[in-house]
Amino acid sequence: MNILVVGGGGREHAIIKSVKKNNNVDKIYALPGNGGIAKDAECVDISAKDLDAIVDFAIKHSIDYAIVAPDDPLVLGCVDRLNEVGIPCFGPDKKAAIIEGSKAFSKNLMKKYAIPTAKYEVFTDRDEAVEYLKSQDMPIVVKADGLALGKGVIIALTLEEAIEAVDSMMLGKVFGASGDSVVIEEFLTGPEVSVLAFTDGTTLIPMISSMDHKRVGDGDTGLNTGGMGTIAPNPYYTEEIARLCYDTIFIPTMEAMNSEGRKFKGCLYFGLMLTPNGPKVIEYNCRFGDPETQVVLPLMQSDLLEVMMAVTEERLADIEVKFSDKSACCVIVASGGYPASYPKGKVITIDDSVSDSVYVAGASIVDGDMVTSGGRVLGVTAVSDTLENAIKCAYDKVTKVDFEGAYFRHDIGQKALRALEAK
Ligand code: AMP
Ligand code: GLY
Repeated sequence: MNILVVGGGGREHAIIKSVKKNNNVDKIYALPGNGGIAKDAECVDISAKDLDAIVDFAIKHSIDYAIVAPDDPLVLGCVDRLNEVGIPCFGPDKKAAIIEGSKAFSKNLMKKYAIPTAKYEVFTDRDEAVEYLKSQDMPIVVKADGLALGKGVIIALTLEEAIEAVDSMMLGKVFGASGDSVVIEEFLTGPEVSVLAFTDGTTLIPMISSMDHKRVGDGDTGLNTGGMGTIAPNPYYTEEIARLCYDTIFIPTMEAMNSEGRKFKGCLYFGLMLTPNGPKVIEYNCRFGDPETQVVLPLMQSDLLEVMMAVTEERLADIEVKFSDKSACCVIVASGGYPASYPKGKVITIDDSVSDSVYVAGASIVDGDMVTSGGRVLGVTAVSDTLENAIKCAYDKVTKVDFEGAYFRHDIGQKALRALEAK
């Protein structure tokens, strides 16, 4: 089989490493891939947003199956376009991808179908938004409606900060058209859990839970990032909470999408907060999380490509999806300065002993060297019998990768360890 993977980050690298294990796979192309993915797939310099070029490439290279991983092409309708020319895909179509593409859509969906989430209002008028803010308790959360690379969320501690956030999104357009409408939301507290789930619209199978670390600095300080590290499973996500989430959030969401005529097929990501009033949805994503995938897939024992194809062919109910009972930890190594500005072009060295555990996110090949080209450069994952060992082993492996200015958090998994100790 010829497989096409659309995307070029650490998540796509993890997907490709898993898909490669299937014996029916002859060739994997990554569009655009990156300098590290190039070791595992043929990378072609086509943007993940250039749907015309992707479809053209897929036809010319006799692609048998495509995996569309990032939010942008999914929201733009990449799956619809590939399906139109007869290429089966993993990922939701455009109608279903709106669950991530518009926060206003997803919030209204949750309200309509009584799926637990933070109280909210949606505004398209700046003055109305400000009037509403004046009547609310602080802190409060201000979100740009559309895609904003995980950065369109501001937690305002004071009314002034909240108004500033609304103005920067609606008037300053810091997130472009994504800020034409804003969601203003109640501030929730509690541990966060990420749950990815396979669904074909009829059956939904949650994967192992995980915990992201979104802030750039140790102790959850500093700016929000795309994710500085992950662990799995998430110790806060007990069996009892998992059952509650399945019954009150996961299945109701799948059914709500069906009722709206937007059947979701692919990986549905639930960003949850376990509040004192029960689990609530913070966000939906229409795709695998990054860097959650880099800990979830290494723990998956079933064949990823077979599961994906079962989703596409709507026969998920007939197969089993198994996960190991071990733990995993992924530490992201970023360019110094990220998420603000950072240098590029620094030569990356990865010791052979750890290359299987490294998922490259931001690198290109220049004159035969792998050099940094992004903020998050790579992730290093370790799997072990206990979370404590997985963390230790991941940090040992981090010493085997290097580039000038490499930066990583030193406390990935520590909050989870403390939660385990408290049990
Ligand atoms: P999102 O992009 O919606 O996942 O938001 C990014 C991060 O902002 C989340 O992972 C939370 O840590 C935080 N956040 C979002 N919404 C809320 C909320 N209603 N209350 C508290 N924190 C929130
Ligand atoms: N790790 C969060 C996300 O993928 O959106």
